[in-house]
Amino acid sequence: MAMYSIRDLAGHVGEEVDVRGWMTHFRSSGKIHFMILRDGTGSVQAVIKPANLASQPVGFDTFEQLEQESAMAIRGLVRADQRAPSGVELDVTGMERLSPAPGYPIQPKEHGVDFLMEHRHLWVRSSRQAAILRVRARIIHAIRNFLDDHGFVVADPPILTPAAAEGTTTLFGIDYFGEPAFLSQSGQLYMEALAMALGRVYSFGPTFRAEKSKTRRHLTEFWMVEPEMAFCDFEENLVWQENLLSHIVQDVLAHNRADLIQLERNLQVLEQVVAPFPRITYDDALDRLKSVDMPLEWGEDLGAPHETALAAMFDKPVFLTHFPKGFKAFYMQPDPNRPDVVLAADLLAPEGYGEIIGGSQRIHDLDLLLKRLEENNMDPQDYSWYVDLRRYGTVPHSGFGLGLERVVAWICGLEHVRETIPFARTLNRVWP
Ligand code: 4AD
Ligand code: MG
Repeated sequence: MAMYSIRDLAGHVGEEVDVRGWMTHFRSSGKIHFMILRDGTGSVQAVIKPANLASQPVGFDTFEQLEQESAMAIRGLVRADQRAPSGVELDVTGMERLSPAPGYPIQPKEHGVDFLMEHRHLWVRSSRQAAILRVRARIIHAIRNFLDDHGFVVADPPILTPAAAEGTTTLFGIDYFGEPAFLSQSGQLYMEALAMALGRVYSFGPTFRAEKSKTRRHLTEFWMVEPEMAFCDFEENLVWQENLLSHIVQDVLAHNRADLIQLERNLQVLEQVVAPFPRITYDDALDRLKSVDMPLEWGEDLGAPHETALAAMFDKPVFLTHFPKGFKAFYMQPDPNRPDVVLAADLLAPEGYGEIIGGSQRIHDLDLLLKRLEENNMDPQDYSWYVDLRRYGTVPHSGFGLGLERVVAWICGLEHVRETIPFARTLNRVWP
């Protein structure tokens, strides 16, 4: 007898097949029992008429003993059924319980989010969580495809690092054989070195920030894709970002529509996400914020409410550009026409999801970089290898970092980033 994935059953109508998986629901109506079986590729309803079983069920005595999440092997005839989400049902001819699941903690009722996060190792089995993780996987695939197809070389930076890339306030320190070291906040500085070797590069991996912020957008461990391009200016950098993001959204729409529908996502909002995206400067943003009664002083950083208010003025993601250098990173290139602002951009997602990409043109001039390190009270000694890059064939270059979980949260339309990653790490949680 052939073993099939549930996803493939529709191609085997009329055949007797074997499937394996976990029982998610069970109900009886008189002499017929209905079991929903899930195997990770899909779900199917198995219809059990005990009188029709060709062999005695194995591994259990009465149907009442079958608990949700019991592991089952089912043999059955595949029957087409228009009403079934998978298009087929199974008429069971034989069944075996492979292992029981007594007292499975997650029941088909409302559970609080703390309870669910505490049981995340089991919660990932729910159909909604599985849909989110499939969308996440597709987004990763789309990012890699886009960058690989456009001549970017994947080259990953270290995770154990000697110094801060994005400022010292959110570093996780570790003891590296008696020397201080840190978990990487961003691979950017290394990506700049690699861009000088390979032209266009990207990294894709976990980054760590000891963020004390308990918001729906912050994780302490999150995944970032960081492209970096030699001979690329600020303008071209924005074009790469909008093209990458349009590709991601359209690719997910093309391949994961069923998942998005299960998540009750508004697809029309996503369908509009096609490059080019609108751009506004920080100065424009202050004017716009004033007009909605959210005034900021020039030089003040935006908070989440400001980002949400600005994003609500557009129906696509919007670039916010030319920030005061005061609250931005030391490596950002000042605007040659106006040195108090930097050639940096944040890409804000619609619908209150906030900043999903941060990027900039980098300082390529040696003296300017040394000056900016000093102005930021940073020790050039700690960055000597990075400064070296400006000594040997330095050229204008740019790059950006896209936060995977924020993109997943936005595309799936989720309340909180904790559901976007298999095992979220937040201010209060490193378990399970
Ligand atoms: O804006 P950020 O801090 O930029 C950098 O780290 C640059 N060095 C990247 C680069 O140019 N190579 O972070 C980039 C993105 C943010 O836009 C956001 O999407 C995400 O990373 N991010 C977080 N996501 C989840 N939890 C957090 N605590 C995050 N912090 C940043
Ligand atoms: Mg940022």
